[in-house]
Amino acid sequence: MYTFAIDATDKPRLYADLLDALDALTAGEPDSIANMANAAALIAQYLPDLNWAGFYRLVGDELVLGPFQGKAACIRIPLGKGVCGTAAATRETQLVADVHAFPGHIACDADSASELVVPLVRDGALLGVIDLDSPSPARFDEDDARGVEALAALLATRL
Ligand code: SME
Repeated sequence: MYTFAIDATDKPRLYADLLDALDALTAGEPDSIANMANAAALIAQYLPDLNWAGFYRLVGDELVLGPFQGKAACIRIPLGKGVCGTAAATRETQLVADVHAFPGHIACDADSASELVVPLVRDGALLGVIDLDSPSPARFDEDDARGVEALAALLATRL
């Protein structure tokens, strides 16, 4: 069993504690699926107001569903399509306040209103993306983007 000390007083502290927890959870573990699964569980447990949290992995020339918490989701996403495919193709974080206003948004869960997608890059190579969905419009801000980017930077070294 794992117990984590997570201080959710403000977002920078929350993400700093999540980063420490992710580091402890994945240290020394070489299995990518195990590490993505525990990362998805950690994020879903401690980040409030999410309806989906997980991974799409770059397999060949498309994104393929990885470990996640939430409802069953679309399995394959072409690069450049939807929020995830855009993050993967541009290798830039996508902070989407209103998914319905995002051209080509792929609706996997009708509950999703806003979304944050961060690319996973290691040594210049794209590995996949972290995808977070919320039922609340504009749920994610720059603190969330920077926090999840820090989680992605660590996790990319553990995949
Ligand atoms: N909405 C995403 C698809 C993945 S689901 O949110 C889990 C997109 O537009 O890429």
